[in-house]
Amino acid sequence: MKLFIDSANLDEIRDAASWGTISGVTTNPTLLAKDNHGDVQKVIQEIAGLVPNGPISVEVVSEDAKGMIEEGVKFSKWAENIAVKVPMTKEGMKAVRYFTDNGIDTNVTLVFSANQALLAAAAGATFISSFVGRVDDIGFDGMGIIEEVANIIGIHAMDSQVLAASIRHPLHVTQAATAGADIATIPYKVLQQMYLHPLTEKGVAAFKADWDKLQSGMLAV
Ligand code: E4P
Repeated sequence: MKLFIDSANLDEIRDAASWGTISGVTTNPTLLAKDNHGDVQKVIQEIAGLVPNGPISVEVVSEDAKGMIEEGVKFSKWAENIAVKVPMTKEGMKAVRYFTDNGIDTNVTLVFSANQALLAAAAGATFISSFVGRVDDIGFDGMGIIEEVANIIGIHAMDSQVLAASIRHPLHVTQAATAGADIATIPYKVLQQMYLHPLTEKGVAAFKADWDKLQSGMLAV
């Protein structure tokens, strides 16, 4: 399973990219607004430069297919690695069909059911963003939907990649991997938490202490 960062914060993306474990970035208007990015083109181009080998999702906000297509075509010219993020609506799927037929990558967002994922796959979506945390928040099983979607895509050998979105904690990442997601898009804080284990810290400290003893000759008899 590939790991994307779910962020529009340049410092977070730069840092995460330096770890060598990130292969894509997802943004949305809320994340862009959180970091006060008035000049969206500039920041998206900077992000695309920080993660040049991975898709950078940029979301359209028009409600009709024509507007979405205009926005998406414009975004796709900002960098080589743009995926146009389109909401799961009828108008959105019309736009995804256009992008698919014109060789533009798409990320269908706000997917909350297996049938919505089927529709996105039928329109040729490159990525299908099934939200986990927001489903859990209303008392349903967000990860169960990821498993269902991954099974359907696998059984029918569809081309779309299942992207687990709305990830809230490290356990969600493990569960998304075992449920068969192709990708999890993960907030910076959760990515950092994934590195941590008390036994790793303890082991690193012990190996360092023993190495230092070796160097100082303290072990010599
Ligand atoms: C990513 O593509 C989604 O927009 C994002 O994961 C949503 O996360 P949230 O539910 O925490 O806002």
